[in-house]
Amino acid sequence: MRMPDILETPRCLLRKPQPGDAVAAFAGYAGDPRVTRYLGWRPHASVADTRRQISYDLFRWLKGSGWTWMVLRRDTEELAGLVELVPLSGQPHRARMGYLLGAAHWGRGLMSEAAGAVLREAMAQPDVFRVDAVCDVDNGASARVLEKIGMQYEGVLRRYIVHPNVSDEPRDVRLYAAARP
Ligand SMILES: CC(C)(COP(=O)(O)OP(=O)(O)OC[C@H]1O[C@@H](n2cnc3c(N)ncnc32)[C@H](O)[C@@H]1OP(=O)(O)O)[C@@H](O)C(=O)NCCC(=O)NCCS
Repeated sequence: MRMPDILETPRCLLRKPQPGDAVAAFAGYAGDPRVTRYLGWRPHASVADTRRQISYDLFRWLKGSGWTWMVLRRDTEELAGLVELVPLSGQPHRARMGYLLGAAHWGRGLMSEAAGAVLREAMAQPDVFRVDAVCDVDNGASARVLEKIGMQYEGVLRRYIVHPNVSDEPRDVRLYAAARP
C-alpha cells in the first residue's frame, strides 16, 4: 500500500504532518474535550503531548504502517483536523480510517469531503479490498459522515473500544465499511 503525501479536495488540502503543526493542532483540537469526547485518548494536557503524537504519526509514515494527513482549509489556510488510515497488522488488504476536526470547523461538510478523498484513494490501491471505520453509538455526527461518504453500516460491535472520556468501560460502536464487490 502506497499513499500520497498530498490529497486535494475542493475545500481542503490534506498533507503529511510537519513537526511545526503541533501548536495549531493542540490549540485547534488535540486539547479540546469536545473533540476528544468519543475518541480513544484523553485531551492533550500540553503541546508536548501533541508533538509526541505528530512524531509517532511521522514514524508510521516512514515505516509505511499508517498514514495521517493534516486537513487544511483552503479558504482560511487553518489546520482544521486530520484523517488517518491504518492497515490491519498481518491483514494488509484491510485498513481502518479515523478522523477529527476542531470544533470551529464542524457542520460545514468538510470531513465528508476529506474522509471521502482518503477513502477513494485507499480503495484505488490494488492491494486494498476493504476500508472500515467504527464510531461510538452516541457519535451521530461521525456515523452520518460515514454514511455520506458511501460506507455501509455492518452492525454494532458490542463492548469494543474504551472511549475514556465517556466511560472507563468498553463501549458499543457502529461498524461501517466499504469493500470491493
Ligand atoms: C465527526 C466529525 C469529524 C464530523 O465533521 P463535520 O465536518 O462536522 O461533518 P460533516 O459536516 O461532513 O457531516 C456531519 C453530518 O452529521 C450530522 N450531525 C451532526 N451532529 C449530529 C448528531 N448529533 N446526530 C446525528 N447527526 C449529526 C450533520 O447534520 C451532518 O449531516 P448532513 O450533512 O446530512 O446534515 C466532527 O464532528 C468531529 O471532529 N468530531 C469529534 C471527533 C470525532 O468524533 N471523530 C470521529 C471519531 S469516530
